[in-house]
Amino acid sequence: MAETIHNGIRPLEDPGRPRIYIETYGCQMNVNDSEVILRIMQDAGYSLTDNIGEASVILANTCSIRDNAEQRIWGRIEQFRLQKRRQAGIVVGITGCMAERLKDKLLESHVVDLVAGPDSYRNLPEMVKAVTPDSPQINVLLSQEETYADISPVRMDKNGVSAFISIMRGCNNVCSYCVVPYTRGAERSRDPQSILREAKELAENGYREITLLGQNVDSYLWKGEHEVNFAGLLEMVAQVSPEVRIRFSTSHPKDISDEVIETMARYENICRHIHLPVQSGSNAMLEKMRRKYTREWYLERVRKIRSVIPECGLSTDIIAGFCGETGQDHRDTLSLMEEAGFDSAFMFQYSERPGTLAARKYPDDIPLEVKTERLNEIIALQNRLSLESNSRDVGKRFKVLIDGISKRNEEEFCGRTTTNKVCVFSAPGYSIGDYAEVEVTSCTSATLLSKLVK
Ligand code: SAH
Ligand code: SF4
Ligand code: F3S
Repeated sequence: MAETIHNGIRPLEDPGRPRIYIETYGCQMNVNDSEVILRIMQDAGYSLTDNIGEASVILANTCSIRDNAEQRIWGRIEQFRLQKRRQAGIVVGITGCMAERLKDKLLESHVVDLVAGPDSYRNLPEMVKAVTPDSPQINVLLSQEETYADISPVRMDKNGVSAFISIMRGCNNVCSYCVVPYTRGAERSRDPQSILREAKELAENGYREITLLGQNVDSYLWKGEHEVNFAGLLEMVAQVSPEVRIRFSTSHPKDISDEVIETMARYENICRHIHLPVQSGSNAMLEKMRRKYTREWYLERVRKIRSVIPECGLSTDIIAGFCGETGQDHRDTLSLMEEAGFDSAFMFQYSERPGTLAARKYPDDIPLEVKTERLNEIIALQNRLSLESNSRDVGKRFKVLIDGISKRNEEEFCGRTTTNKVCVFSAPGYSIGDYAEVEVTSCTSATLLSKLVK
């Protein structure tokens, strides 16, 4: 059995306790939610296992963002059916966005015993206890207040270097394609003092990188005795320790303020990277998507970022083949990508989500082959842009936080630059969690190959 670390941050491994197995799908916020769930379940007497065969509770913390995400989970549910035949009495639960979206439809599978939406996790222990073969449990109430502010997530990642802090939940934007406002409910910000407490605890436990999470971090606003906006929060967290790097995600182009960009520039430990999803380069599409900015506005924000922080890394999300997208709209996306010069991107085909504004108002009329062709063009262009961006870094020096072992070569470490690029290098005598000074010797579109600067 692995070493048991009872520092309150790592999972508890106690063979005397009933075991819980948790699988996580979707975004970083869901990863952090699984860590909240583990704290709640650990406090109720469970301990984590990564062996599904010894679990008495199996949870899948799910994602609904695109149809293929949900299809994958339906496939898993079928595998849980087989697991249940082998192990009588186990409880299978679905949590997260798919639980919220599909509600009691998930029970029709006759595999799922428990359905818990994103704001109901405090009740999980009672729900698990109340499950019987004839009484599945369901709680999909969304809350206006829940932020799990008082719950210390149990960190499940193995490296002990980087951790997430959710600073807000929900989303008040109604991007017409997006299911998140329906699965996560209204936006609410978390008490900054509880965020600060968590950041300090992580720093004291040796963590070296904290990522602040929210669907739209720029609209973070705490209206307590002293109002705190996102720039203010960023500054407070950056001051916890100069040795701890701060990242954040996701910024919204309509809301990212000069104040945030200027705050980044003032603190060396706030990483020089902004994830700024553009979705499309066409004003007609942006309007239909209800993104509430134009191509020109987006490019002005990019210019502002580059004027204040010239070396800033920039990544984005792009959707190919949204409703009614013409060839010209698609070319507008390609030209915006060139103009913005993204370092990296997450790129998707549009997937209609039932109940969203787009599903109700606009036909999903771009044929699959066209969506695929456009997505492939977008990916090919991004590969070139990423390679160009990485090539510009060859010969430069970076301070890298080592966060793992390279997948390519087990003798090498991997880590990230402040601009969020992955470096691999060998560094005898160094450990995961150390900072290393490296020089980039060559690159691919995904990686900076580097050597240690002595
Ligand atoms: N809150 C963030 C992102 C949330 S979802 C933001 O506003 O940018 C992550 C990404 O998934 C989105 O940026 C978008 O590019 C993609 N996405 C969301 N809904 C989608 C859909 N219906 N089809 C395809 N991609 C989608
Ligand atoms: Fe979805 Fe838009 Fe909210 Fe992002 S900002 S989560 S894309 S509705
Ligand atoms: Fe998926 Fe829900 Fe995140 S839909 S992307 S898990 S907020």
